[in-house]
Amino acid sequence: MTAPPILRVERATAVDIDAITALINSMAFSKDGGDLLPRSRDSVANAIPDFYAVHEGSELVGCVAIQNMGSKLAEVRSLAVVPGMQGRGVGRLLVDACIEEAHERGLNTLFALTRKPVFFERFGFHEVEVVNFPKKVWQDCYVCPRFIECDEVALVLEIEDPDDDAY
Ligand SMILES: CC(C)(COP(=O)(O)OP(=O)(O)OC[C@H]1O[C@@H](n2cnc3c(N)ncnc32)[C@H](O)[C@@H]1OP(=O)(O)O)[C@@H](O)C(=O)NCCC(=O)NCCS
Repeated sequence: MTAPPILRVERATAVDIDAITALINSMAFSKDGGDLLPRSRDSVANAIPDFYAVHEGSELVGCVAIQNMGSKLAEVRSLAVVPGMQGRGVGRLLVDACIEEAHERGLNTLFALTRKPVFFERFGFHEVEVVNFPKKVWQDCYVCPRFIECDEVALVLEIEDPDDDAY
């Protein structure tokens, strides 16, 4: 019997651009539902250094981006796991990678806009008013098909500085 493949989160590369674009847009907002803001191939390509990816074999099974929105603030966005792989820890790998990167970048806050607040609460995120993020609202939400009837929740995670505990 062959063991199931070990899933690893890695930085995305240019090879992943088309698969990431397809995955995000397969879950994009539409009149029938969807959970993600759609993204063009160019938008993904330009942001590829911010993306993490999880593969099973050569297949992309999940992605996320951590995008700077200020000197100490970044957004966790475009988090997606292919339906057949949900519930197997891929989303956790991706969010954990963003949190680790937030520490490495010296950020003090991560935020997410989502229709899945309970998922993010598992990582310590807590709900805040969306008006805390005007740049985001102007830049991305303004072009969203659901802008007028948005049902997303804003959540933040304060990143603890390990040096704060050093007495
Ligand atoms: C939300 C999503 C990323 C979760 O990915 P996943 O790989 O299924 O999540 P995981 O298997 O890593 O689950 C991690 C934990 O979160 C929990 N969880 C998963 N989805 C959840 C949800 N929708 N609500 C609450 N908790 C959830 C799991 O039970 C698990 O808990 P545990 O560690 O106590 O066992 C995935 O369902 C998805 O791609 N959804 C569509 C796109 C989307 O909504 N993206 C997020 C908006 S930004």
